[in-house]
Amino acid sequence: MPAATKTKTAAKTPALDVNLEHFWMPFTANRAFKAAPRLVTGAKGMFVKNEKGEDVVDAAACLWCVNAGHGRPEIAEAVKDALLNCDFAPNFQMGHPAAFKLADKLVEILPEGFTRVFFSNSGSEGVDTALKIALGYHQMKGDAARTRLIGREKGYHGVNFGGISVGGIFRNRQTFGPLLPGVDHLPAAINKKKFVRGFGPADPFYAEELERIINIHGARTIAAVIIEPIIGSAGVYPPPEGYLKAIRQITRKHGILLILDEVITGFGRTGHGAFASEAFGIDADVIVMAKGLTNGVVPMGAVAVKQEIYDAFMSAPEGIEFFHGYTYSGNPAAAAAGLATLEIYEREKLFERAGKIGAKFQDMLFSFQGKKGVADVRGIGLIGGIELEPQGPVGAAGMKAFVSCWEEGMLGRVTGDTLAFSPPLIIEESHIELIRSIVDRVITRQYK
Ligand SMILES: Cc1ncc(COP(=O)(O)O)c(C=O)c1O
Repeated sequence: MPAATKTKTAAKTPALDVNLEHFWMPFTANRAFKAAPRLVTGAKGMFVKNEKGEDVVDAAACLWCVNAGHGRPEIAEAVKDALLNCDFAPNFQMGHPAAFKLADKLVEILPEGFTRVFFSNSGSEGVDTALKIALGYHQMKGDAARTRLIGREKGYHGVNFGGISVGGIFRNRQTFGPLLPGVDHLPAAINKKKFVRGFGPADPFYAEELERIINIHGARTIAAVIIEPIIGSAGVYPPPEGYLKAIRQITRKHGILLILDEVITGFGRTGHGAFASEAFGIDADVIVMAKGLTNGVVPMGAVAVKQEIYDAFMSAPEGIEFFHGYTYSGNPAAAAAGLATLEIYEREKLFERAGKIGAKFQDMLFSFQGKKGVADVRGIGLIGGIELEPQGPVGAAGMKAFVSCWEEGMLGRVTGDTLAFSPPLIIEESHIELIRSIVDRVITRQYK
């Protein structure tokens, strides 16, 4: 690179000799970060290390990923063995045993009827894969007019063009042109009542809106509805009671596929089994997963479908049935990480654990009800949000609290003015108390 195009004033971290300039960071206020960086320099169990080497409790499983806790030697060993045995193998017209084994294992823990798994490298790719599967399925069934997709306001389905089209977060969409055509959005199903633990009071309006959209376009033009069982990235909003089942009933009545985006809610997060769809009694057609699939250790996503959907594709003339796939779909190291992760979940019964400890975690979150500066608390199992009273533009109060929490020794997440929580499933009561005391200190100081 010519010297003139290089950055002249490379920001350096105070404690580490790292040049921060050239990494264009994702979903980050780059200039602010580089002026005052927060670096994770190590990780073990419930803790990460900050740039000074101090322990910071992980209240977010580092982006909802590390459900089995950090630094699991079983996963590291499995990945190492996989790499030394067969560093790479293609899955196009060839195969590698690990991907088959992982698909097999996933089918064991998926809700009944999910028998086929397609691998991606992320949740975003999983979502776009799922949307393509939905469109292809209807084509294969001779229902080619079904091309419309329905997402939801506040929905987050990753950042690829399909995902932002069905997604409902304005700032993720605004810069990127007209997006996919033929997409409608349901309203975000948000409880009107504040400080509701778990599902909110029934409110049929939100699901009925689907009938309204269907009445505008005609059911025979709609391929799929995609929703998160609990809105995650846009602020942690469990839906009103009965909402998910009502959406299922309406989609089924009209032959519309229901895609559940379980990238966050999968792998025990809700404290009710492996997947929210099963826990909440919603018989989806397609489930998207990622993150906890490999404990976040190696990037991987997956899309599980019912046998009927796979069968529709297999009715195509002999040859490639689905013109879609990624170089790294079912990558050997990722599959090894997935297998080792699922073994830990099973051996340590972490999904059951999440249910039990989740109740205590919710007690802690709801202990903030009534505290000065707290506008709302929401959550289920090991997912929760504490919404703060705004202080200036939306997001300012949240960001300030998020940074303070890090400085006080807690890694959280912030979305708008909501502090979002999703700790590893191995969390213990002492960690819950540590999180409580840090959040309490931060909010007290910020709203004094
Ligand atoms: C519900 C949901 N879907 C999709 C994604 C995108 O996943 P990734 O960041 O792995 O592409 C996320 C990420 O947070 C998510 O929460």
